[in-house]
Formats: sequence, structure tokens, C-alpha cells
Amino acid sequence: MTIQRLLDELNPEQRHAATTTAQNTLVLAGAGCGKTKTIVARAAYLISQGTPPEQMQIVTFTRRAASEIVTRVEQYLGAQAQGLKASTFHTFCLAILRRYNKAFDLGQFNVIDRDDQMLMFRLLRGKDKQNELPKAAQLLDLYSYTRNTQSKFSEALAKQLPDMVELKAPIIAVMKAYELQKRERNYLDYDDILEYVAKYLNQSDALLEQVLHRCQYLLVDEMQDTNPLQWL
Ligand SMILES: Nc1ncnc2c1ncn2[C@@H]1O[C@H](COP(=O)(O)OP(=O)(O)O)[C@@H](O)[C@H]1O
Ligand SMILES: [Mg+2]
Repeated sequence: MTIQRLLDELNPEQRHAATTTAQNTLVLAGAGCGKTKTIVARAAYLISQGTPPEQMQIVTFTRRAASEIVTRVEQYLGAQAQGLKASTFHTFCLAILRRYNKAFDLGQFNVIDRDDQMLMFRLLRGKDKQNELPKAAQLLDLYSYTRNTQSKFSEALAKQLPDMVELKAPIIAVMKAYELQKRERNYLDYDDILEYVAKYLNQSDALLEQVLHRCQYLLVDEMQDTNPLQWL
């Protein structure tokens, strides 16, 4: 299929979004209205206009959705689409951390997943019978919620675990111990990956420049599901 046929399939608003020269574009439409189709068309259009595929980054929530977008662009463009990347927020940010490692003064680091975090929270919480603290999973969820919503800790606590507000001090102690342990062991959890990249991109023009040098276009699908941390 040619790019013109693909654009002809779109309605005028979709076509406008797919071919715009605006620096920033936000597409709002309900489920099933054709937003993903528009992103596929935009990627295909930009490549057909001469943007190298490796200069484009598509970001979405799941690996599956990401690879589906690439597959669809390839269906239209074939080999011309080679090098197009689509990934999750975390994979995208992790790639930046690895590639520009020096800019982050992090040194070697190990990525820990939810199971690893649970193990750490379980040990830090302790497990004797009289322990009134929230369960390890609740502590972990509260910790991650606070960060992902960029909330004040006491507000997050009142919202997530209203019965536990009087345990604020010992809960904070567990979270501080978790953070100390992460630092000592050079661990990064998934939220750290996003937070580090957001923080350094905001404070270092040189790093931003380097990242932009390799990424002329950033296309984000499922933007409605992003949280404040991903927006940073
Ligand atoms: N302009 C259009 N004409 C015909 N079918 C369309 C059009 N835009 C989208 N579709 C179809 O509608 C369905 C939903 O599109 P999709 O891009 O997945 O929507 P969204 O991402 O907004 O949920 C798909 O099957 C897609 O091929
Ligand atoms: Mg979609």
C-alpha cells in the first residue's frame, strides 16, 4: 500500500494530525476512534517524507502495543521502515540511562522488579505477630503511588491507607530504609528509571541535546494512561 492510500483512509482530522508540521501535537479522541491508526499513519508519513526511522521513537504502555505499531508501519512501508523503534516508557528510559550512563552519575546499577522490591519491603517491615504496619505489598503500593502521582506522602497515606495514618512515622522509616538500601546496592526500581531520566533531562541541556540528536520525533500512544511521573 502506498502512503497516499494510507492517508486517503483517514478522515480529515486524522490526516491533519498525521501530516502536521506543528512542533507539539495532542490528539484527543475516544476509544476506537482511530488514534493508534493515526500514529501509525504519522510514523509512515514522516518516514516517507525522509525522516530516518531510527530518528523516531514511539512510546506506549505495553511491549505488545509497541510492536504492533511497528508491524503496522512495516506493512505499509516494508524495508523503508527498518530501524523504527517502539517501546514502553520504562524500556525507553532504561535505554537512555544505559546509553548516556556518564551523564547520570549513577555508575553501575541493577534494575530491580516488583518481586525484588517485595522481598526488600518484607524484610524491612519485619514479620513478628504484633507488627501493626501495613503488609509489604501495601507499603510497596503506597510508596509507588506517592511517587507516580508526585503526591505529598501524608496525602498519599490518608488516601491509600486511611486507617494507618497514625503509623506515619514507622511507615516513613521503612521507606527511608528501603531507599538507603537501594542506594547502597546501586539498585534502581522501575519508578527510579523514569524519575532519573526525567530529572536529568530537565536539568541538563547537554543531555537533552544528546537525546534529541538521536530522536527527532517522539510519538506517544495511550497518553491518557500516563501518570504525573511519566509527564515530568
Ligand atoms: N478513518 C478511518 N476509517 C476507517 N476505519 C478506521 C478509521 N480510523 C480508524 N479506523 C479503524 O477503527 C478501529 C479502531 O482504531 P484504533 O486506531 O485502534 O483506535 P484508538 O487507538 O483510538 O482506540 C481500527 O480497526 C481501525 O482500523
Ligand atoms: Mg489505540
